[in-house]
Amino acid sequence: MPDPTRPRDEPANHAVIGCGRVAPNHADAFQALDGAWTIGWACDRDADVAAAFAEKHGIPRWTTDPAQVLADPAVLSVTVAVDHAQHAALARQALRTGKHVLVEKPLTLSGDDARDLLTEARERGLVLATVSQHRYDPLVTALDEWLKDGLLGRLRYVRASLEASRDEAYYRDSYWRGTWAHEGGSALVNQGYHCLDVTQALCGGLTVRAAVAVTGELFGAMETEDTLCALLTAGTVPVTLSVTVGSTVTWRTRLEFVGAEGTVELDIDHPATLHRAQGNPELERRAAERRRTLPEAAPGINYYGTSHRRQVADFATAVTGRTGMKTGPEAGADMVRLLEELYDAACLPGPGRMRGA
Ligand SMILES: NC(=O)c1ccc[n+]([C@@H]2O[C@H](COP(=O)([O-])OP(=O)(O)OC[C@H]3O[C@@H](n4cnc5c(N)ncnc54)[C@H](O)[C@@H]3O)[C@@H](O)[C@H]2O)c1
Repeated sequence: MPDPTRPRDEPANHAVIGCGRVAPNHADAFQALDGAWTIGWACDRDADVAAAFAEKHGIPRWTTDPAQVLADPAVLSVTVAVDHAQHAALARQALRTGKHVLVEKPLTLSGDDARDLLTEARERGLVLATVSQHRYDPLVTALDEWLKDGLLGRLRYVRASLEASRDEAYYRDSYWRGTWAHEGGSALVNQGYHCLDVTQALCGGLTVRAAVAVTGELFGAMETEDTLCALLTAGTVPVTLSVTVGSTVTWRTRLEFVGAEGTVELDIDHPATLHRAQGNPELERRAAERRRTLPEAAPGINYYGTSHRRQVADFATAVTGRTGMKTGPEAGADMVRLLEELYDAACLPGPGRMRGA
């Protein structure tokens, strides 16, 4: 049912809280919704950042105070795109003022907070979601279909990796990156998140078997892990995960699904590339069809891709049409649980243990 409190002829009103690196993807995605949505507020605790973001994206009001945004009855929904440690409190505050909430990943830093948010949203009948944009990538959706249609046969193993480079200034110049208290980890919870998230979605759930991490080797400005490798299972299928921010390569993901009847190797960078699809002739036929799709231009940092638009469209339909989302809050909460287990297995403080920090 459409929201009865919103006049039908007025566009739905969204606000962006946190106007940093990823925020342009949210502005782009809501503004791409054919005039049905508008962004009413830009909010950043740094006034210069909020004002510049509002001006650049044609947003009529800006503030440094999230409470001012949440007190505006015209605001129907908010994006929360600040450091990880504040996701839970800001999302809770937004839900308690009756706003639908789209939280950047990860949903929260602790499983307890994630569960509390899910309950809060459910009891209030509000839409809550975590950004998982790469689950919406056409290539990932295609692989999901190929797996469900049995084109790869029984999976033998899955490999997922992210190789990235981050310089010292990236950590030194940020109030939150590289700290357990604010980022809750680094290479895994931040840069490696999407590789794990897409693997979890395609495998239908993962169990952690072992993990090893490296900390303290990159710059003095980083207390969190720069590298983490893990062994997981999807049912009886072995899954390996390797993530690092200490490479010389700016950004390179790679997912490899090896089955008894076919192998698929792809990345989720932008444009996402299908490197290999071989074995089963039907798999090869569908892969050739998929390769003919032309890539779209990315609105923000290239490797964030284009699928914020797809997930925001899904979120917007859920808010105004009250339908379920393809990727609802349970997916985000499952990821928080998995991250906690991985940090525990690697004997690191990790998100779950930083509750209340
Ligand atoms: N989905 C993706 O591909 C993707 C990409 C990048 C970042 N992210 C996620 O987005 C979130 C933000 O990351 P970023 O890289 O944009 O960070 P950033 O540091 O560039 O920006 C965060 C902004 O939030 C502001 N802020 C902090 N606390 C605030 C508060 N209480 N009220 C208002 N503003 C506040 C800061 O001043 C800063 O400008 C993180 O959760 C990150 O993991 C997701």
